[in-house]
Amino acid sequence: MKAILYEKLKEYAQSNQYPFHMPGHKGGREGIFPEVAQMDITEIDGFDNLHQPEGILAKAQELCAKTFGAEQSYFLINGSTAGILAAILGSCGDGEKILLARNCHKSVYSAVILSGAKAEYILPEYFTEMDFYGGVTVESCEKALSLHPDAKALVITSPSYEGFTSDIANIAEVVHKKGTILIVDEAHGSHMKFHPYFPKTALEQGADIVIQSLHKTLPSFTQTAVMHIQGDTVDRTRLQQALSMVQSTSPSYLFLASIDSCRSWLDGQEGKEAFDKYVRQLQEFRSTMAGNQSILLLGKEVCATHGVADMDLGKLIFYIPQGQVTGVELGKLLRQRFGLQMELCGNTHIIAMTSPADDEEGFLRLQQAILHLEKEISEIPISTIDFSEKMRQDIPVAKYTPRQGYFAPKKEVSLEESIGNICGEFVIPYPPGAPLLVPGEVISEKMVKKMQACRKKGICLIGCEDSSSQKIRIISL
Ligand SMILES: Cc1ncc(COP(=O)(O)O)c(C=O)c1O
Repeated sequence: MKAILYEKLKEYAQSNQYPFHMPGHKGGREGIFPEVAQMDITEIDGFDNLHQPEGILAKAQELCAKTFGAEQSYFLINGSTAGILAAILGSCGDGEKILLARNCHKSVYSAVILSGAKAEYILPEYFTEMDFYGGVTVESCEKALSLHPDAKALVITSPSYEGFTSDIANIAEVVHKKGTILIVDEAHGSHMKFHPYFPKTALEQGADIVIQSLHKTLPSFTQTAVMHIQGDTVDRTRLQQALSMVQSTSPSYLFLASIDSCRSWLDGQEGKEAFDKYVRQLQEFRSTMAGNQSILLLGKEVCATHGVADMDLGKLIFYIPQGQVTGVELGKLLRQRFGLQMELCGNTHIIAMTSPADDEEGFLRLQQAILHLEKEISEIPISTIDFSEKMRQDIPVAKYTPRQGYFAPKKEVSLEESIGNICGEFVIPYPPGAPLLVPGEVISEKMVKKMQACRKKGICLIGCEDSSSQKIRIISL
């Protein structure tokens, strides 16, 4: 099926209609990007309303649901963030319990603050030696559900930033036994359904609400995402109302058309061929990395350990086992000497994110750069990794809910002075975006050390007012 929204926009741009309507650039008559602006409209006559779709948008969303294997799909023009906010606002109210994997993205925590839900955490498994989270086990979900049988929803990120999926099929089974809603943040997995090389999707495994950022791993504009629904555990009216609260009343038709065009591309021959080529390129690339000793490319050997059910092999995780350089330093070398920008540069690893739009030149440049640095780095002395600087942590003690902590009066103190006090803001290494501290949690000495280590290594901490991470806001009740 063709890209119906794009066709309609093109037709409108070529028509002789004079725009006595928003936006103020008036079809690109003033301002920048005039060619693009010609098609930049919002809900005008003849087009459909995103908040009450009855015509072309209803049709486009229906086509989207079919392509992605959902019962119902919603277009998101504020990224997966909007879908996550709506999913949680649509499932949990003030004071109701929600179970969250601790490595959830900051948008999940924002939703908890907005809804007033009481968060209880599930700690995902951790690759201590590599310093990142693995998956969430079925047992840990079962345990959390037995401690909190009244939880309204359980939220998991799968695949994780690193591309690790959890065993969603079995998690869905235990979650559904309690009548709880399973929300899967699949922001990084919108491509997975379209080739067997990739893990099974959360929809295929029985999740109730699944949110995907098309812009992350498919050819679609930044900010475009989709939320999919299936089953009867979700109150769809409430979900739709929540979505209406968090999405703009002036949605960009460029974004909406981008989602529909991406769907049309996936349905057509072009998409299928692109996926075949993408998988071939990944396989070839991976085979050239097989002999590395200093910069290891992680693959399926990590599966069935640390809660990892499967791995998205489109995520290229390079791990430096002997610590000759940090991930941040390796990322800098790739950027400055080879003109290659990584998605994430962490403590002991970097992540190169790929998509079916990557070309041969990109893969070749990355291959040559890594093989060159592999040789260079092997000559640097091995360094002992300081385990105190790892990101793994036990879940801090919470004195207040995230919402109470967020709204409480605060004062700024030095990191050293903050020990033993209650945190008044988020402390989130970004990327990947999983918080070290949430408002309302007690600040331990260990946590302060981790923050200082992040600062030393150049890992960006967001959520805190002092971006240099010398100070922190504590609750001053
Ligand atoms: C795991 C995860 N979930 C959700 C989001 C939010 O997605 P978006 O940027 O599309 O709003 C991100 C963004 O990086 C993410 O990594």
